[in-house]
Amino acid sequence: MCGIVGYIGKDNAKDVIIDGLKRLEYRGYDSAGIALIVDSEIFTYKKQGKIRNIEIELRKVPVYSNIGIGHTRWATHGKPDDINAHPHLDCTKKIALVHNGIVENYAELRRELQTKGHTFLSQTDTEVIVHLIEEELKTSPDFFTAFLSAVKRLQGSYAIAVITLHQPDTIFVARKDSPLVIGLGEGENFVASDVPAFLSYTNRVIFLDDFEVATVNSNSVSVFNTDGERVEKKVVTVPWSLSQAEKAGYKHFMLKEINEQPRAVADTISGNLSWFRGESYLEGIDPNSFSRIQIVACGTSYHAGLIAKFYLENFAKVPTEVDYASEYRYREPIVDENTLVISITQSGETADTLAAMRLAREKGAKLLTICNVIGSTATREADTVIYTYAGPEISVASTKAFTTQLTALFLFTLYLSRERRALASDEVDSYLKELLELPSKIEAFLNLEREKEVVKKIALEFYRAKDALYLGRHVNYPIALEGALKLKEISYIHAEGYPAGEMKHGPIALIDENIPVVVVATRGKVLDKIVSNVEEVKARKGRVIAVTNPSVKKIGELAEFLIEVPEVNEYLSPIVNVVPLQLFAYYIADFLGYDVDQPRNLAKSVTVE
Ligand code: AGP
Repeated sequence: MCGIVGYIGKDNAKDVIIDGLKRLEYRGYDSAGIALIVDSEIFTYKKQGKIRNIEIELRKVPVYSNIGIGHTRWATHGKPDDINAHPHLDCTKKIALVHNGIVENYAELRRELQTKGHTFLSQTDTEVIVHLIEEELKTSPDFFTAFLSAVKRLQGSYAIAVITLHQPDTIFVARKDSPLVIGLGEGENFVASDVPAFLSYTNRVIFLDDFEVATVNSNSVSVFNTDGERVEKKVVTVPWSLSQAEKAGYKHFMLKEINEQPRAVADTISGNLSWFRGESYLEGIDPNSFSRIQIVACGTSYHAGLIAKFYLENFAKVPTEVDYASEYRYREPIVDENTLVISITQSGETADTLAAMRLAREKGAKLLTICNVIGSTATREADTVIYTYAGPEISVASTKAFTTQLTALFLFTLYLSRERRALASDEVDSYLKELLELPSKIEAFLNLEREKEVVKKIALEFYRAKDALYLGRHVNYPIALEGALKLKEISYIHAEGYPAGEMKHGPIALIDENIPVVVVATRGKVLDKIVSNVEEVKARKGRVIAVTNPSVKKIGELAEFLIEVPEVNEYLSPIVNVVPLQLFAYYIADFLGYDVDQPRNLAKSVTVE
């Protein structure tokens, strides 16, 4: 997704903006640009490629300004090139604009503006916005009125930041469906798509809501609705430190975040124990007020939902469906006031997940969201929020968010099971005890240099593979899906996860001596079945990589490569078993020399549909 950074204050806006854009690189982009007000002119510089290209060029141009906007572009309309990069200027070159989102009525607006004499330089939808503001200014008493009028004509999604010579001490912003946050400093203020952009300056944040606009000066911020009425906003102190948002000595954010999982799981448990122990309320959700659950999510978060189905049906005895959010929206789901819809989303900004939540709300469902970002859209639209305390997840490939989602979902399941009398208190206590031991189990694996070396050796053996098959059963079948997703999204190797029992219905035709077959085969009720599946693969010369427990000797005899993980309760095993698969994908991508944290074509938060 695109990244936006704006600054007004006492420092050199160029440096603050470039620094902020670098902290948003994880969002994925293909070009970048900056606009500054310098000596009553708007200076812009934009290029296809990485931010560092701009930084090098800007060092040669001694420009100083205390107000500016910057952008990293993830192309939607118009190919990635210098012309289509943001910022975009109006015809008078007195207005500069950056945008994240999609203007769905841009073609009609473009035609209208062209008939009024506007000429367009780019192929982007974004450029129509800055010309629309210029056109509205002709009939408006001031720039803010023109800005508001233009924004009200937009259809689709937008996060917009504008600077203008008409009012050079103000940044104008607006948001609908694409996130935009305002950072409050001392004698300086910031706007950005996400908090890490300005976290090194301030952690005091205003989260704009849909259909809100704001004027940002160096000493004041005013928020309005699109009718121009003032809106009072809460200032949130985001509990993240800058170090949490930096690499802290790791080669990539992904490796750092894999290793942060013991702490993240522990923090997620402790961060939620208060309502679990009844010391506070899980507001908005009566545990006995619904008869069924529907889970909506995307990508890795969807895989967490598949595992949560096992938890909720096995322990809480609540019928549970799981849908890709992008599918849920169009399948005419049967939803009523007895349905609890749980959205699982790390960012809280995934467009498909938000749309599914809004559909469920329209149909009368209660909404619970499992989310990692305080103040994000999902958390403000749900009835109840259960936060994962994973800290900022920068790498596009989701790791600690996934294991903390499972942790939060297991805790919620225990809460429901107790409140609905589906489990006796002593059973709940016993499962909670096992959950509390989980961080140390994950830590135990991550501290086993020998095991990590094994994973690295296997990665070296297979990093040139063209295909990979991941197999799992029961509660670990979604781990096969997740392992395959990790591999394909950062190494670009075609990988697919499959229920091991399904292999004989087709995929077994893929098996030969060239394809690595990763099997999740830890102790549980279906272990014998998965042993048979491993034998089927071996019989066809398949190369088996098994994630298993040291006590499972049969797998040890069959697999060509063994990755041993600590043994835990079967239902908690996905939280441990996924870790070596994360590392396996990481090492392969690193051996291939790919951009592990910012894989091609991907974005950290998919805020467009
Ligand atoms: C997972 O590694 C990917 N980054 C992606 O599938 C991600 O899980 C998905 O886009 C959902 O994001 P969310 O959790 O922020 O909604």
